[in-house]
Amino acid sequence: MKLSDRILGMQESPVRKLVPVATKAKKRGIKVYHLNIGQPDIETPKCFMEAIEAYDSKVIKYSFSQGEPVLIDAIIDYYKRDGMHYEEDEVLITNGGSEALTFASIATCNPGDEILIPEPFYTNYNGFTSEVNVNLVPITTKAETGFHLPKKEEIVKLINEKTKAILFSNPGNPTGTILTLEEMEMIKEIAIEHDLFIISDEVYRKMAFDGLISHSMAELEGIEDRLILVDSVSKRFSACGARIGAIMSKNKLLMKNILKLCQARLCVATLEQIGAAALYSMPLDYADHIRDIYQKRRDIVYETLMQIPGVVCEKPQGAFYVVAKLPIEDAEDFCLWLLDSYDHEGETVMLAPAQGFYATEGLGKNEVRIAYVLKEEEMQRAMSILKEALLVYKQKS
Ligand SMILES: Cc1ncc(COP(=O)(O)O)c(C=O)c1O
Repeated sequence: MKLSDRILGMQESPVRKLVPVATKAKKRGIKVYHLNIGQPDIETPKCFMEAIEAYDSKVIKYSFSQGEPVLIDAIIDYYKRDGMHYEEDEVLITNGGSEALTFASIATCNPGDEILIPEPFYTNYNGFTSEVNVNLVPITTKAETGFHLPKKEEIVKLINEKTKAILFSNPGNPTGTILTLEEMEMIKEIAIEHDLFIISDEVYRKMAFDGLISHSMAELEGIEDRLILVDSVSKRFSACGARIGAIMSKNKLLMKNILKLCQARLCVATLEQIGAAALYSMPLDYADHIRDIYQKRRDIVYETLMQIPGVVCEKPQGAFYVVAKLPIEDAEDFCLWLLDSYDHEGETVMLAPAQGFYATEGLGKNEVRIAYVLKEEEMQRAMSILKEALLVYKQKS
C-alpha cells in the first residue's frame, strides 16, 4: 500500500517540529519559555463561558451548517458597529479561520491552480492549499523593508492563467506587518486587472500598535464580488481552543457554493458558537485592552533585539509576532541547540525557525519568528536568555 503524493508532499509544521526536543528538555528539568507558537496567555473574556453555562438545552444538537443564527447575527452586528455591512447569507461559520482558508482555496481554485502570497507567510497556508492540490506562489518581502510589498510590476510578473487569487494575513503572521492603504489599493488594482479573488485573512485585525489602524479590505469599494474575508475568535478574543471562525463575502454565488462544503461537514460545535456570539457582542474597545498588553510585550522584544549586534528587524506594527534575522548561519540549528544543549540557570527559550514560513528555497535560513505571547516579566527573562544564548552559540561555532 502506498500513501498519497498529496499527503507525503505536505510540510511538517515548523512551529511544532521541535516540540519533541522541548519535551525532552522539560524532562531534564529545564524550564522552556514558549515563544514558538501563537497561543495567547490572556484570559478569554468571561462572557464566553457564561453564555455557554446559560445555554438551556437537554440535547447538544447539530447546529445549522451555516452556523448558529445568534452567532451570525452577532458577527453582522460587530462588523456594522465597525462600519462594515454584511447580510445573513454573506457569513458562514467555520471551524476556526483554518477551515475558512481551506474552503476559500477549494472554492476559488482547481487542482494545479495558483494563489499568490507574500512570503514569509503563516506556515499553515501550505497545508490549507497543498491538501487541495493548489500551489502557493510567493511574493518575496524582506526584513530590511519591514516585510512590505514590492512594487506592482514585481507582483504582476508572477501572474499567469493559473493564478486565481491573492491571499495574505493583515496584520501579518509571522511578520507583524500592517498593510498600508496604498498597498491595499495596489492589491485591489491587481485583483481587478487580472480577475483574481482576494482572500484577506484578518484574524489579527485590530491588533495594531502605535496608533496605527489595521484597515479591513472590506472598507475598500469596487471589490465586493471578489473579496473573501477570513475572521476568527482565536487571537482577537484569546479563544484559540473554541475553534470558531467565519468566512464572509458579498459574492452570493461563492457563498452558496461554500455552503455545500459546510453541509458536507455538517456543522461547527454548537456550544462554542454560543460562547463566540457573546465574544462578538462585547464592546469594540475590548480590542484596545488587548492591544495595549501586546504593545508592551512588543517593546520588550524589539528593544532587546536591537541591543544584539547583527540583528535585522523592523519594529512590528501589529499581531504578536516578529521575524528577526539573527547573526548566525542556520536558525534551525540554533533553535535545536537552544533546546537540547543550552540553558541559562535551568531555563531556555523555544523559537520557530523562519525558513518554514518561506516558499522560496533557502530564504529565512538565518531568521526566527518570535511570538510575544507571555507576560512582561517572562518576556523580559526569555529575551535576556536569547541574548545570552546567542553569545554562547557564536563562541562555540
Ligand atoms: C494568519 C493566521 N490565519 C489563520 C490562523 C488560524 O486560526 P484559527 O485558530 O482561527 O484556525 C492563524 C493561527 O495562528 C493565523 O496565524
